Amino acid sequence: MSTLATSTSADSFEITRTDTPVPDAQREAALAAPKFGTVFTDHMARISYAQDTGWTNRRVEKYGPLQMDPATAVLHYAQEIFEGLKAYRHPDGSVWTFRPQANAARFAKSAHRLALPQLSETDFLGAIQALVATDVAWVPGGEETSLYLRPFMYASETFLGVRPSLEAEFLVIASPVGPYFAGGVRPVDIWVAEDYHRAGAGGTGDAKCGGNYAASLLPQQEAYAKGFEQVCFLDASTNTYLEELGGMNVCVVYADGSVATPPVSGSILEGVTRSSILRLLADAGHEVFERPIPLADLKAGLADGSVSEVFACGTAAVMTPIGRLAGEGFDLSVRDGTAGPVTTTIRAELTDIQYGRAADRHGWLHRLA
Ligand code: COI
Repeated sequence: MSTLATSTSADSFEITRTDTPVPDAQREAALAAPKFGTVFTDHMARISYAQDTGWTNRRVEKYGPLQMDPATAVLHYAQEIFEGLKAYRHPDGSVWTFRPQANAARFAKSAHRLALPQLSETDFLGAIQALVATDVAWVPGGEETSLYLRPFMYASETFLGVRPSLEAEFLVIASPVGPYFAGGVRPVDIWVAEDYHRAGAGGTGDAKCGGNYAASLLPQQEAYAKGFEQVCFLDASTNTYLEELGGMNVCVVYADGSVATPPVSGSILEGVTRSSILRLLADAGHEVFERPIPLADLKAGLADGSVSEVFACGTAAVMTPIGRLAGEGFDLSVRDGTAGPVTTTIRAELTDIQYGRAADRHGWLHRLA
């Protein structure tokens, strides 16, 4: 557990409070039943970059629209990256986040891949800390609620040539949220896309950049039309192995108690929730494998009962059971559409740590307020 004493640059952020904050009653109403990603807090944190000056002007300012020239590079070439993490209110009222250093490290890796400037861990954590301290009243306290934090960086130079931007903006915005999927924590139905891929070898699959998500939208739209909520992608070179869902990793639980998830081989995102869950599973005595999972094996395992559970995991999704897996020519139910005991138990362990109901034995929590 790291505390407020951790060296961050929160103090170096100049805070200009809005004179028109959302009225208390309206904010309380938003916090009572937050829907994922629909309402935003009063402020945003921001740092500006130019090649000549480096990162300057650390500030927290009123949340609001960004002014952009129509020729701003990000609008044309999608040079953009983002992160997702959450702030949790503990029973004593304090506010904590989960493994933010891992998000800072992944952000640095994504920045490298997208040829964006590096932002230090100190600035990444400092921006989060300064924003949450300013908008602390926006951290909800209800079950399964949190303040979702969305750090992002985009190429802000006004220039249409195709080369890395010489200017960038880093921002953090925050949104009170409940469960990612409408209808709360419940098993979801997944369509396996065999005709689209999310990422290929040497591409940007292991970077958290908007382009990966844009590429997943058409398959997701087609899956919605068939009555499914997410798409599972297969590897681009052989169309054989599970990769990940549009916005979360995937894990398979076997009847012998072992658990497997696709390895981070360059085309899938190295999820912070994924690695935390693998650790909790190992702690609980499960054999854990990061290995390629052929779709054919998963189908056979669901049919013969050797696969007992399948779940999705990510910051937004936490751990979401998968209740049905279908694709061209197959439609298989998982546990008759109910959540399994391994998913339920490990999910409870993870959220108990995040919400301060269980000891933080791995030192994953970082105090924000
Ligand atoms: C997250 O889990 O934070 C994600 O980034 C997934 C999605 C909401 C984009």
